[in-house]
Amino acid sequence: MAELLNNEGASGLVPEDIVERTERRWLFAMATVLGLMLAVIVFTGVTQMMNPLSDVETINPATLHLQGEFVESNLGTGIEPDGSITVRILAEQYTFVPQCTMVPTGTLVRFRLTSPDVTHGFFVGTTNTNAMVVPGYVTNVMARFEHPGTYAMPCDEYCGFGHHAMAARVVFLPKEQFKNPRPEERITTCGAQ
Ligand code: CUA
Repeated sequence: MAELLNNEGASGLVPEDIVERTERRWLFAMATVLGLMLAVIVFTGVTQMMNPLSDVETINPATLHLQGEFVESNLGTGIEPDGSITVRILAEQYTFVPQCTMVPTGTLVRFRLTSPDVTHGFFVGTTNTNAMVVPGYVTNVMARFEHPGTYAMPCDEYCGFGHHAMAARVVFLPKEQFKNPRPEERITTCGAQ
């Protein structure tokens, strides 16, 4: 049989040693690509702080509108009792609530998001703030923005027929212009820009 395999002309089969060499090369190529991807993950983790989320926080997606921190009156930008800034956003088919949030520049801001239906994406345009929003879990992202402006916040996780139209905005306000929005301003406006 081995003789037959080695005799390409007669049998039409590729000789065994050539098959082995080719497979070895492909194995090497794949291992190199995997190694490169691993290196990119480590590199971006170290230099750009692009890390997978490390905490797991669960929440009941069926009662978000009834109780807890994601009730409508508590969404948007808020200043916590300790002075830190937290933005709470609901990602749902096919909108974000609120549609626009304001945060100060040069300040560490905590974003907390969750979804009542399917998986959505949280992405603040041109920054490295990017995370999945999964029903049943709270996505907790710390971010600091340096440049004032209005940024698009599209859903970057395919979530259904309306995915392409699902987007909101984030306004980075110079620190000195930022003030704690009144409760009625949290959802409805982005204030003067
Ligand atoms: Cu929500 Cu795509």
